[in-house]
Parts: sequence; C-alpha cells; structure tokens
Amino acid sequence: MQKKYLMTPGPTPVPSEVLLAQARPMIHHRTPDFNNVVDECVSGLKYVFQTTESDVIIFASSGTGAMESSIANCFCAGDKVIVCTNGKFGQRMTQICTVYGLDIIELSYGWQTCVSPQDVALALEENPDARGVIVTQSETSSGVLNDCEAIGKIVRDYPDCVLIVDSITGIGAVDCKTDEWGLDVVMTGSQKGLMLPPGLAACTVSPKAWKAYERSTLPKFYFDWKKYKKNLENHTTPFTPAVSLMIGLAESLKLMREEGIDNIIARHSRLASATRAGCEALGLEIFAPVEGRGSAVTPVWVPEGIDGKKLVSLLKNKYGVTIAGGQDEYTGRIIRIGHLGYFGDFDIITVIAALEMALSELGYTFERGVGIKAVETVLMEG
Ligand SMILES: Cc1ncc(COP(=O)(O)O)c(C=O)c1O
Repeated sequence: MQKKYLMTPGPTPVPSEVLLAQARPMIHHRTPDFNNVVDECVSGLKYVFQTTESDVIIFASSGTGAMESSIANCFCAGDKVIVCTNGKFGQRMTQICTVYGLDIIELSYGWQTCVSPQDVALALEENPDARGVIVTQSETSSGVLNDCEAIGKIVRDYPDCVLIVDSITGIGAVDCKTDEWGLDVVMTGSQKGLMLPPGLAACTVSPKAWKAYERSTLPKFYFDWKKYKKNLENHTTPFTPAVSLMIGLAESLKLMREEGIDNIIARHSRLASATRAGCEALGLEIFAPVEGRGSAVTPVWVPEGIDGKKLVSLLKNKYGVTIAGGQDEYTGRIIRIGHLGYFGDFDIITVIAALEMALSELGYTFERGVGIKAVETVLMEG
C-alpha cells in the first residue's frame, strides 16, 4: 500500500465529514429535506463570497460552466468587453467571448505579470462603451494573483459595465470581498477551496449584473440565471441537481463557517509562505512575481538540468505525492504545488520532504533538510 497525497490546485482533498455527508442515502430533490440543503448552500456560499447584495447561483457543472454563464447572461452579440489575460484561464475567457461573438479588447500579459489596474482604467477611458471587464483573480496556471479590489474601484464608475471575476481558485484561499470591492459576477468551482469533488459551480450576480441580464440577448437555456433565481427563491433548483454534491457542499460550508473566512484566508497565506520558504531554501525560484502571489498554489521553476515531467511523475509514483506540472509553454519547466482547501501544516512538510527526496534522486545538489527546516521556521515563527 502507498499512502497518497493530493497536492494539486484542483481537485483538492475532501474532508471526511464531507465524504460521509455525500455517502448518505439518496433523497428526492423536490422535498422539504432537499429544500433545506438548498438554503444552507445558498446562505453558506453568500458567506464565503462575502456578499449580502448579490444572488448566488449553483450549477451542476464544472467551473467553466459558470464562466460561460457569465458571458451568456450579461451580453449581446457584438458587445465590447475588456478581457484581461495573464495565463491559461484568462485565455479561456477570451475563447468563450469569441464563441459568443463579442467584440474583444484583450489586455494580454505574460504569465509572470499581474494585470495592471491602470491599464484597465485606460482601456475603459478609451472604450467607455465597453459592457464588461473580465479578470481572473487567482490565475491557477501561473499562481499570479490579480488585484480585483483596485479593478473594482475603477469599473464601479461605469454604470453599464459589469466586472466579471473568475475566482475559481480564489474563493476560500484569498480574500474576495464581492460587495465591498464592487464585483458583479464572481465564480468558483466545487473541487477547489470548497473542498468537494468536482461537479458543482457557483456564481454571484449583483444588481448591476441583473441589469445586464435584462438587456442581454445571447442564447442560454441550461445556464439561464433567471431560471435558477426563480427556483432558488422557492428553495429548489430548475433542473435535477447534483444532490449528493450539494449535501456535501452544505457540510463543507458548515466547516468553513466554523473556521471563519478570515481564518481560512490567514491559514492559506501562512501555508503559501511556508511552501515558498521551503522551495527557496532548496535554491528553487518562485515563478509568480513578488507583487502578485496567491495562496492557492505555489508555482516553482524546475532547476536547470532537471526534467520537470520526470520530477512530477517520480513524486507521484514513488512518493505518492501528486502535484501539478506546468501548462502550455511551461510544461516541464515549472511545477505547481497546490495547498487550497483542506490543508494544514504537515501537508507542507510532506510535500517539501518529498520534493527534497525526488530532487536528490534526480541529481540536484543541495543540503538535505534545509527545505523542511525553512518550512518549520515559517510555521513556528511566522
Ligand atoms: C482559475 C480557473 N478558472 C477556470 C477553471 C476551470 O474550471 P473547471 O476545470 O472546473 O471547468 C479552473 C480550473 O482549474 C481554474 O483554476
């Protein structure tokens, strides 16, 4: 037997309380029992999205479903949108907007660069008719954190322009104040900070986003927000929901409320610092820039002379630790250590210890133990 450790930025480990909740016998979704589950999910999600002003909608889909819904529900074909991209998931938003025939102004950055709020301000000054600004808060492909608070302050001054935020690996890992920052649509997926298996997505819809919905003419059926709103008001869902996942979600949201959103964010920040310190002590360089490092995933350059793909497979096959590799042009060149959701101090010790062993086996020279020592120092002394 080999004990397995899942340390990718999604799917993430699922706490036993949540696994057990999902294993309960099936219930019918048009019953008072399930109505209670829906209510718990909606109020818990509002808590983690930090909103009282927006509605929350839950889909039986992966995160990309919520991304697509944000476009289909807010715009008309030909609408001008400003899409900020600095990684794979920002690029996915551009792809979705292209499919829906939007007029895209792309603010495109390298994967190691944060989206500049000043560039967004300038793009809006030059294009006051833009109907949307789209940004990825926590860019999972690069570990870069974009400043949605600053972008929110800018977009707020444009009453006909909605700010759409992909926070799929942000929610439950980094601060995301939906109301306070003026974020109109914020989305997440179940297999991330919510500590569930894949299969659910959720998004918030602000009053400004409902205004956009009312004028939007893009085709939508399964992802039509109004259908969900009407049904959620009656404590149910328009289509057959992912019953077991929603029972699990109610449980994970209970755990999140018990810990408290500020404590959750602080725990992630501490674990991310410890991971970075461990890697840096081994002489590895962090991929994301100092000014924009998120807490969901630590991206690290693979050292010169080491095969990144081999490193990832050695960690998985020999040590039972699954981390993610790089994507697109960074395949084999960076590794990504996920610590999003159900993670604690000793998970970080484990991954850095495994990294030391695997790197050593691949011929990388360093003083064994320095990585773990650095992790312990951050965990013990802050
Ligand atoms: C930032 C971000 N956006 C979008 C997605 C897509 O979500 P899904 O794979 O659940 O459709 C992911 C998934 O990793 C992500 O990390």
